[in-house]
Amino acid sequence: MSKPLRKAVLPVAGLGTRFLPATKAMAKEMLPVVDKPLIQYAIEEARAAGIEQFCMVTGRGKTALVEHFDIAFELEATLRQRGKTAELKMLHDQQLPPGSIVTVRQQEPLGLGHAIWCARAFIGEDPFAILLPDDLVLSETPCMQQLADVYAETGGCVVAVTEVPRNQTNRYGILDIESDDGRLVAVKGLVEKPKPADAPSNLSIIGRYVMLPQVIEYLARMQRGAGNEVQLTDGMAQLIGKVPFHGLRYEGRRFDCGDRIGFLEAQIAFALKRPDIGPAVRAFLKSYVKP
Ligand code: UTP
Repeated sequence: MSKPLRKAVLPVAGLGTRFLPATKAMAKEMLPVVDKPLIQYAIEEARAAGIEQFCMVTGRGKTALVEHFDIAFELEATLRQRGKTAELKMLHDQQLPPGSIVTVRQQEPLGLGHAIWCARAFIGEDPFAILLPDDLVLSETPCMQQLADVYAETGGCVVAVTEVPRNQTNRYGILDIESDDGRLVAVKGLVEKPKPADAPSNLSIIGRYVMLPQVIEYLARMQRGAGNEVQLTDGMAQLIGKVPFHGLRYEGRRFDCGDRIGFLEAQIAFALKRPDIGPAVRAFLKSYVKP
């Protein structure tokens, strides 16, 4: 029996340079899609998969992320005074149990692998999920639940994967495939940001993972990879052959909200799905794109 998946690490210490000037004084992960910040989508997705303990790896200028999960006493008092019970209930429903979220600091953005290593005391000897909040997945079954189901079957590492155009492999972590049943892919290697000519496939990893704690030993070596950063992909690659390692072609659509176009697409897709505003957004879009 493999250990249950109860922990998640959310690395949020990146600089978000692709989103300047919005990210000059504000964390990228606080950008809202419709009316909810990216970080909250990620936490809700993890909770839906049974995860109970959260660690945000933060950096400079990220205090709003911590405050977002606090109780806002003054705000609640004002809402109560004004009889705004629906809004109050929403805030209460979203409240995390006390003590379930911690933060650690990554003092310098030395790479995603380094960010995960910063959470080593939180991880301890347990399996853990990783969610990159700037990847948002619209799906029937929450993406992390899909990965957790595979982890329950295999007891090993699982990464969410999707096909990308060949000429874009240099932006992603790419799988070297051992075997592929169309849903689950057994992995024999991983390469971070390979040139299209060198890429072993066009299956790329998105920001959802289930990892085993052994990855920390490899990340601790602080080997620099692509972009001179400590890459999570390189640490994970060293686990292959030692533990089961699979890619899951998840059901759903991923939006890269760290990118301007991906972020705008997410706004539209999530707004159209919302029963309260979807019809109005659809009508507005139709009128807007008329020739
Ligand atoms: P990105 O590659 O999107 O980098 O990081 P970034 O700095 O956030 O954004 P750009 O490229 O400058 O616009 C992927 C994820 O890894 C985290 C980021 O916060 C994001 O969730 N990360 C990256 C860290 O926590 N620390 C790092 O050193 C690097």
